[in-house]
Amino acid sequence: MAFDIDKYTETSVNVNWSDLDFDEFRTNPLPESTLRSLRYMCDIEYHTVCYLRDMLVTPSHKDPEVSAFMTMWNREEFWHGEALAAVLGAHGVTVDFDELKATRLKLGWKDKLDPVKQSLLGNIVGKDFIAVHMIWGAANEWSAVAAYNRLADLEKHPVLAVLLKRIAKQEAKHVAFYATQARERLAASKKARVLARFALKKAWGPVGSSVMEPDEVTHVMGHLFSGDEGMREIRKLDDHISRMPGLDGLEIVETAMKKYGVAA
Ligand SMILES: [Fe+2]
Ligand SMILES: [Fe+2]
Repeated sequence: MAFDIDKYTETSVNVNWSDLDFDEFRTNPLPESTLRSLRYMCDIEYHTVCYLRDMLVTPSHKDPEVSAFMTMWNREEFWHGEALAAVLGAHGVTVDFDELKATRLKLGWKDKLDPVKQSLLGNIVGKDFIAVHMIWGAANEWSAVAAYNRLADLEKHPVLAVLLKRIAKQEAKHVAFYATQARERLAASKKARVLARFALKKAWGPVGSSVMEPDEVTHVMGHLFSGDEGMREIRKLDDHISRMPGLDGLEIVETAMKKYGVAA
């Protein structure tokens, strides 16, 4: 495969922000709507471990490259959460990872059932489940790259923009892994193509929409992707996805944006 997993695991590092002057936020603070979007992004980055837990009970766990990738990927997403929490902290907003995890653990049935469902679904479907997991991951990582770059461009804050561009660069590496895997696995199996198309059409939603309040999803997606330029980004995401084997014509991102009331 084109993605070098050994090199990736050897070179995986936390996103660096120690050289950035966070005092800038004191004299040049971020507006409320941006802090609200950052809070959402921070929560989602911190939630990666729950998603990882769901995936560890599926056939993906047995694939050595996928499980090696996911181990490092989970750490990088956690570090993204930490960096964003530091930005929020500089504005007096506290995001506590342990508290967030505790709340998530208390969510109850729906939450507890998810890994079981994933496991049943994953194990019935077998190896083709991994293809679905990979294209799902690719769609989410493409969205993450677009979201961070877009917020950096919208806000044009000298410190925030640098940090977000650094995070986006790591998200692009995640795209490379998921998309390479997805392309090869979908090309190799008709069953995987049918399943992936069905799963994306039926169940895909914007990153975080399954755990965050709908109002928050609408705020973040509207903040980042409304207007002509935003819609161009959305269509680019759909283009990436629909160029994958067996997924032509899918417009899942645009459909999801409309569902959350994001207007062009
Ligand atoms: Fe991330
Ligand atoms: Fe990522």
